[in-house]
Amino acid sequence: MTASDTNILQFGKTAHVRRVPSHRYTDSNYLELERQRVFQRAWLAVCRVDDIAQPGSYRTFEQFGESVLVVRNERGGVSAFHNTCRHRGSKLLDGCGRVREIQCPYHGWTYGLDGGLQSVPRADGFEHLHQSRMSLFPVRVDTWAGFVWINLDEEAPGLHDALSGVDNELAAYRLEEMEPIQRKVIPLPVNWKTMLENVTDFYHVPVVHGRTVSWAVDEAPDMKSLGDHTRQRLDIAAYGWRRRLDRMCTRGGPYTDKQLTALHKYLLFPNFLINVLPYHLTVMQVFPVEAQSCELHYGFYRRRGARGLERLRGYGTWLASRYILLEDLKIIERFQAGVSTGRLATQQLHLEEAAISHFHGVLSRWVGQ
Ligand code: FES
Ligand SMILES: [Fe+2]
Repeated sequence: MTASDTNILQFGKTAHVRRVPSHRYTDSNYLELERQRVFQRAWLAVCRVDDIAQPGSYRTFEQFGESVLVVRNERGGVSAFHNTCRHRGSKLLDGCGRVREIQCPYHGWTYGLDGGLQSVPRADGFEHLHQSRMSLFPVRVDTWAGFVWINLDEEAPGLHDALSGVDNELAAYRLEEMEPIQRKVIPLPVNWKTMLENVTDFYHVPVVHGRTVSWAVDEAPDMKSLGDHTRQRLDIAAYGWRRRLDRMCTRGGPYTDKQLTALHKYLLFPNFLINVLPYHLTVMQVFPVEAQSCELHYGFYRRRGARGLERLRGYGTWLASRYILLEDLKIIERFQAGVSTGRLATQQLHLEEAAISHFHGVLSRWVGQ
């Protein structure tokens, strides 16, 4: 279901969830439910399409006890498999790289890039081995916005159904043209939701970012739900000179007026957050490790081939975003430290925390409690 744009305060008044139980940030039983009912069922980004550009180039995805490999196949498409040998289950590939075929390091079974079992050493030592039925276990895979996405649930809706109109809105930005300036993985001593929620929370901006971005934000964002996802639009430094600069950095498109001037922030359930401008993309993806620890995968991107002013705007936004992220990383550790005492059982949300309200409503539906 989609809704029209409205001020975040109005949006907050319509939110069903206004209080969040604190155990969602500390309880390993709740995390196990999230793992089974959310992460095992949702579409998750693995890497950029460009990361596996050549036939045989691959990346592994290792999160919450799963190991999946995505590989560029010989037909030029992308395949995904469980990273597990069909002989005795050994893990096949590590990290990233390029291979002609996928060979198990244990006893040498060899698979093609399509996952088919090609050769078995001394195969006559097996009774009843049907090689044609011993392909690698496939994983659902698709691409969108320049990212490779997987879903571990064979029954889940397709990626484009799951995106519920987000893909239409983002089409103008041509995110597949973006290339990374910086990408990094950082372990954080906080629950996975803590990080995502902080980035969508407008209420903390004057306090945590009082000396940095707060001065440039005059008005609360407007907000919209797009199925399980949300989008906020925030006018940052909405001055004439900035508008003029922005209008000189508009490759991609055709953009709406708002897309040209406002930062668009999308939280794609469950764990993928982007801030986007025509000349800039920030990506934050968060994976749980334990109930009170997670991995933040962040990336700052600019449009491929950016020159002159567009390149400068891309770098400037990257530097500012990086600084703001550092401010956020400090405060979320304090949040987690306080919540972990168990003293506060329930958190009451402000209307400017409406994205958190929406997120927890969706989470409750997926988890079933
Ligand atoms: S476990 Fe892979 S070849 Fe034996
Ligand atoms: Fe922040």
